[in-house]
Amino acid sequence: MEAKFQALWRSLATIGRDDRSGGYLRYTYSAADLACREWFVEEALDRDLEVEVDPNGNLWAWWGDPQGGNAVITGSHLDSVPHGGAYDGPLGVVAALLAIDELQARHEAPANAIGVVVFAEEEGSRFGVPCLGSRLLTGAMDPARTLALRDRDGIGVFDAMSGAGIDPAGMGHDPARLGRIGAFVELHVEQGRALADLHAPVGVATAIWPHARYRFDFTGQANHAGTTRMADRHDPMLTYAYTVLAANKEARLAGAHATMGRVQVHPNATNAIPALVQAWLDARAAEESTLESVAAAVRKRAEERAARDGTGVTMVTESATAAVEFPLAAELATMLGAPLLPTGAGHDAGVLAAHVPTAMLFVRNPTGISHAPEEHASDADCAAGVGALTTVLETLAWR
Ligand code: GLV
Ligand code: MN
Ligand code: MN
Repeated sequence: MEAKFQALWRSLATIGRDDRSGGYLRYTYSAADLACREWFVEEALDRDLEVEVDPNGNLWAWWGDPQGGNAVITGSHLDSVPHGGAYDGPLGVVAALLAIDELQARHEAPANAIGVVVFAEEEGSRFGVPCLGSRLLTGAMDPARTLALRDRDGIGVFDAMSGAGIDPAGMGHDPARLGRIGAFVELHVEQGRALADLHAPVGVATAIWPHARYRFDFTGQANHAGTTRMADRHDPMLTYAYTVLAANKEARLAGAHATMGRVQVHPNATNAIPALVQAWLDARAAEESTLESVAAAVRKRAEERAARDGTGVTMVTESATAAVEFPLAAELATMLGAPLLPTGAGHDAGVLAAHVPTAMLFVRNPTGISHAPEEHASDADCAAGVGALTTVLETLAWR
């Protein structure tokens, strides 16, 4: 299996890779993402799977009758964060295809259809809302709001999808499709070091922390860096800088996570006080009440600082995801003899969990690093992940 994994992994590894950073630039519906999607379609057709794309941009490949109901779905995503690692997303897709190979060698046909899904825009790196494809499918995201989203170049979802040859007519909640799913299992690289510390190649996710993304607009008065007296300034960069520190402090005090990893400055000139600083806060906590109180505290401190700086600040929630418990976790952990672990990362499985019995498998990542080029999993551990996924799919699809 290790050799098979290596071969399939290599066939995807060069697409969208940035040689300078060693990371991946696979923004949804970009040329690199479309090449990944084409790769997937070819691999699926090689396995005699029936391929379709839904109006939410998600790709599906079916072994067995998709209309039959009680289908067992596996898969993940192929889009990446800017300069992301190779494994976050693609590992779940590659593992799904290899598990299908194993099962096709063992069985003529599945008792219940097995589907491999590639969800669109899981990272939210192009349009801002993570798990966009699965949120649309489950009705958690409104098509009108989706069509109003713009990427960094001002391109909307409709044009991006149309340009990719995907018809967005019928975008949105798809209860008929959801109703045909009996279970969803997503395999994913671990985004921490828990499995390395436990000396286990594969683990089972128990829960995902609630998390949210907020956009701050800090507004001020653009002016000359050399002639504007310090006392006369309305500098939104100061309010922004204070807010970054406040978010870090509030998260530490609450045992939560807060990150401001994206910022845009206008006009972005060395010798001008900015007119506008836009920045994004990603916040996560074990409890929803903690997440809410951290967000409220950061907002309050940003507003207080804005009053001192003579600037303006608004904070809007771009996405919010409730806590998730995976109902199949205990059963799978027993089945595989694998440890259970919670995670702070978001996943399409988390979105689906409110609608269908869902589980996640994690594959050990010895670096513990994710959303960066150092993300890694050994071929042997990935092969072990494929073995575990095969066992789970076989149990679920033939019972
Ligand atoms: C997705 O990977 C997220 O947790 O942001
Ligand atoms: Mn990710
Ligand atoms: Mn992912």
